Amino acid sequence: MNWIESTKEKMLHLQLPTDPRWVNIAEMNIEDILVDHAYCEQKAASSCISLIVLFNEFERLVEELTPVVAEEWGHFERVLEKLKKRGFKLGKQRKDEYVIQLKAFVKKGGSRIQQLTEQLLMNALIEARSCERFKLLSKHIQDEELKAFYYELMVSEAGHYVNFLELARHYGDLEKVNARWKEWLNYEAEIIQKLEIRGDRMH
Ligand SMILES: [Fe+2]
Ligand SMILES: [Fe+2]
Repeated sequence: MNWIESTKEKMLHLQLPTDPRWVNIAEMNIEDILVDHAYCEQKAASSCISLIVLFNEFERLVEELTPVVAEEWGHFERVLEKLKKRGFKLGKQRKDEYVIQLKAFVKKGGSRIQQLTEQLLMNALIEARSCERFKLLSKHIQDEELKAFYYELMVSEAGHYVNFLELARHYGDLEKVNARWKEWLNYEAEIIQKLEIRGDRMH
């Protein structure tokens, strides 16, 4: 079994594992990684708020995503603490090529449920990839405090991944959702393959 095959099972259905070189480059650029990470948490919170506002008629979604907003914002706050402790500043938001490319795959139009499915699957993927990257950081970086922090976040983002995927399967037609999920997974793997490996980005 090659490296890709052996890793596949352990990474939340992601079709392509992160290049192992990324974690080493990331560790050397920990200030940039923390800044980019802070904005990932901000975007995760903002995205849940938008979903609640846009899809307010879906009660279970509103109920389940409301505490996720608080969790993501809590993560943002924790990343700010890590930055401060190390003498770094938040700095400006970086261009998020990964999310820009994912958004381009969202199907326009269709029913409310189809629109909702697209948003939930895209969010599930971002959570899955973040979770995979946190796992790599928690396993391979030297900073003991950050190791523990990333382990904790890995567990939390895995929970969010399940939330989004379960909501998509709850509201949408199961077969259609599962078929579309496969398309999203394949598309995400293509993005990951094409994106330059950068030590200043979480994705
Ligand atoms: Fe988070
Ligand atoms: Fe999350």
